[in-house]
Amino acid sequence: MNNVRIVSTGSSVPELIITNDMLSKLVDTSDEWITTRTGIKNRRVSVDKDTSDLATEAAVSCIKKASVKAEEIELIIVATVTPDMFTPSTACIVQNKIGAFKASAFDINAACSGFIYGVDVAKSLLGCGRFRNALVIGAECLSKITNWEDRSTCVLFGDASGAVYMEVSDKPGIMKISTGAEGDKGNSLLSGALKPNNPFNRNNTSPYKDHFVKMNGQEVYRFATRVISESIKDIFEEFNLTEKDIKLIIPHQANLRIIEFASKKLNISIDKFYINLQDYGNTSSASIPLALNEAFEKGMISEGDKVIAVGFGGGLTYGSLLIQF
Ligand SMILES: CC(C)(COP(=O)(O)OP(=O)(O)OC[C@H]1O[C@@H](n2cnc3c(N)ncnc32)[C@H](O)[C@@H]1OP(=O)(O)O)[C@@H](O)C(=O)NCCC(=O)NCCS
Repeated sequence: MNNVRIVSTGSSVPELIITNDMLSKLVDTSDEWITTRTGIKNRRVSVDKDTSDLATEAAVSCIKKASVKAEEIELIIVATVTPDMFTPSTACIVQNKIGAFKASAFDINAACSGFIYGVDVAKSLLGCGRFRNALVIGAECLSKITNWEDRSTCVLFGDASGAVYMEVSDKPGIMKISTGAEGDKGNSLLSGALKPNNPFNRNNTSPYKDHFVKMNGQEVYRFATRVISESIKDIFEEFNLTEKDIKLIIPHQANLRIIEFASKKLNISIDKFYINLQDYGNTSSASIPLALNEAFEKGMISEGDKVIAVGFGGGLTYGSLLIQF
């Protein structure tokens, strides 16, 4: 198998910032409740851009940094739960918008683990020689599936995109990927965009009522704290790593309490964890590449550094990455 490395990163967020105080005018909540329960202060909401627009902006900035021309790209994968439409896929829309006319393009849906799943698929296809490079994008307009009258969910989510450009390489690059799913817990985080309205089905007992996110927060919290800790622990053990061997851990940015739980349980300093959820909330599949790009832009990752990324969310799904840059 070929080694595969991440060459460059990019991201994009909408301009509109919605603060906790603004939300407290929409629903019965407060900055104090949101901050203490989640750590989130602001989120971005897209007014006029669709998921493919945010994905395209992240892709353009990412390939510019890699000095690659769009027509050289061979594979585009977009991870999203909020595609512009069912077909064409968001990846095909991006392919057209950036002019990557030689690329194969498709979407995947693994919710907040989607970016890790996308990197996994791309790494496998590059590793076996099918393609030589790939653009993997996580992009979401979660505002489209957020019920802005439901205080238990609307305070959590935001819109964003992030991208990585990957190439076959001599360097170690992506050293480990694992993914998993616990579909038996799928009903604890739902967005049922497809209404089962088949006229021949007179006895419709589907749990899906509409497209809004519905969540059993405590069940998802228990799942998230378990899988984030186990995923990081497994990588440390397999590669015989200590905290000082790792430059940064980039967790999915769902809730500060989940990250603090992992930090305490694993006895890893909270400073090792890159945290930007205070600015963007939970942006599902965009959250890890957005954070990774920010960490690069702040000069926090250099060549040779090892970084762990860990995702978890709807499905329920989880996944983790060990990368050497
Ligand atoms: C969602 C979450 C922050 C809720 O925190 P919690 O401590 O579990 O809070 P609960 O759901 O038990 O609600 C406690 C109370 O706060 C209320 N509440 C819920 N949302 C509120 C809000 N935005 N503002 C004020 N009160 C709120 C509830 O109605 C409840 O009131 P009650 O006790 O009178 O019934 C937490 O469960 C969580 O983070 N879960 C994981 C979610 C997640 O990460 N999902 C994405 C995974 S990718």
